[in-house]
Amino acid sequence: MVEVRRICCIGAGYVGGPTCSVIAQMCPEVTVTVVDVNEDRIRAWNSDSLPIFEVSPGLQEVVDSCRGVNLFFSTDMDEAIKNADLVFISVNTPTKTFGIGKGRAADLKHIEACARRIADVSIGCKIVVEKSTVPVRAAESIRRIFNANTKSSFNFQVLSNPEFLAEGTAITDLKNPDRVLIGGDETPEGQHAIEALRSIYEHWVPKSKIITTNTWSSELSKLAANAFLAQRISSINSISALCEVTGADVEEVAHAIGTDQRIGSCFLKASVGFGGSCFQKDVLNLVYLCEVLNLPEVARYWQQVIEINDYQRKRFSSRIISCLFNTVTDKKIALLGFAFKKNTGDTRESSSIYISRYLLEEGACLHIYDPKVKAQQIMHDLTQPTPSERHDPATVSRLVTIVTDPYKACENAHAIVICTEWDMFTELDYEKIYKAMLKPAFIFDGRRILDSLHDQLQHIGFQVETIGKRVNQRIHFTAIEDKSEIDQQQPLKKIKL
Ligand code: NAD
Ligand code: UDX
Repeated sequence: MVEVRRICCIGAGYVGGPTCSVIAQMCPEVTVTVVDVNEDRIRAWNSDSLPIFEVSPGLQEVVDSCRGVNLFFSTDMDEAIKNADLVFISVNTPTKTFGIGKGRAADLKHIEACARRIADVSIGCKIVVEKSTVPVRAAESIRRIFNANTKSSFNFQVLSNPEFLAEGTAITDLKNPDRVLIGGDETPEGQHAIEALRSIYEHWVPKSKIITTNTWSSELSKLAANAFLAQRISSINSISALCEVTGADVEEVAHAIGTDQRIGSCFLKASVGFGGSCFQKDVLNLVYLCEVLNLPEVARYWQQVIEINDYQRKRFSSRIISCLFNTVTDKKIALLGFAFKKNTGDTRESSSIYISRYLLEEGACLHIYDPKVKAQQIMHDLTQPTPSERHDPATVSRLVTIVTDPYKACENAHAIVICTEWDMFTELDYEKIYKAMLKPAFIFDGRRILDSLHDQLQHIGFQVETIGKRVNQRIHFTAIEDKSEIDQQQPLKKIKL
């Protein structure tokens, strides 16, 4: 069995950075070097201001405990690859934005670049591990690149070892994972490589939690896990639409069904829709895979998870417009929360971006506050072109103001829209906020974080509107003029309450 003494991780992002920091802390005899092409990122990893924000137990503490001892961040990729016994590939695999599979397939150009680089500089024995989330059989492509490009002195094994951490809880997830999954070749060499990687995780993960499979099961399990989690959110969000017109409360429904052990209570929180860099990308990746493998029924099944998510975002936005007397043009709206969930500064695919865009299309003046997202990032997210549309930076800068004080965001606003479930939003002085707002003053709780305050907020004078519940016992009509939207909402209009 290869003894792993030196690890190189290519990609110092949300996965590579925290994962390798924990490996370094847990395996003091192993030297871990994390490399990246992005010099700014590496500089930040080497500073006291890490490039990603993770709450307690702090990433900074983990990094501080081993950086410069057995954990290094560097841009010298070739040197780190050359010296390593095991190389993690932990680069981004975003959805393709052009060409075949645009908008659905995973873009594997960074994976391929890594494979070619490893092939170029490697000699001796190496275990190469896919840490990135990839389509099934991606390991095959890596092997082919190695076979076609390497010198005879390079002996390699390719493993799949997908990462299941969630942002905001990365360190806890890494230190106490539900499972570690390792997939490899069924040959004796493949099994030796699996054992070598297993021995790293066994420093802190109980044997019973380390699952080994063939390479393809491991690759597919990652896509399937994210698809199942996303599907639960879309399922409960679809029920939230029903709750809003029937008088049922989605929190009560989620609790009632979640107590059934066969269903379980996690990932049943109705919301403005799931965001983050993984769910949409990985479900679309699965859909594309099914399409190219001629499984159209399976593809359509998973595509619906994405469609319900889009629907939820549009539905919430149209509810805001409809409550504000069918127009938000020139109205000040305070949008609280821009990260895709609390305890992270990451905004990738955040529902806040979509909701902001819908409201901006209607001419709303948005005053956006987030405790962890920088103004520059918000403006970038709102102005960057999407595959289907271009967002005019001039209009966005005229209509959007980024503030550093939530009270300022709410001053003279018609409505507060809560998009991220930051704890601090439950602790604001809502009496003070109400006094400074235009009347009627609305709160749209897209995260169900103000449930326990609803009576109090209504007593203050707020009109409270919340996902999956009719707080004000009124029926809402859609304000979006698009025909397809109206068709989707039509059955709701027929219900008499
Ligand atoms: P990220 O964008 O934060 O980081 C990727 C890093 O790779 C970037 O810093 C980039 O500069 C670097 N990179 C790209 N190409 C490179 C190259 N050729 N050489 C050197 N560096 C290169 O991405 P992430 O969020 O860390 O995700 C990485 C992978 O892990 C993705 O496949 C993702 O789907 C998967 N994943 C992410 C999460 C998550 O919570 N973010 C969780 C599980 C799995
Ligand atoms: C997810 C997976 O959980 C993780 O295992 C995988 O490795 C990467 O993708 P992440 O995207 O970091 O992690 O966050 P997660 O906690 O899963 O939340 C994703 C989105 O779903 C967020 O926008 C969150 O607010 C939303 N969500 C989550 C809900 O709307 N309701 C829920 O019940 C749970």
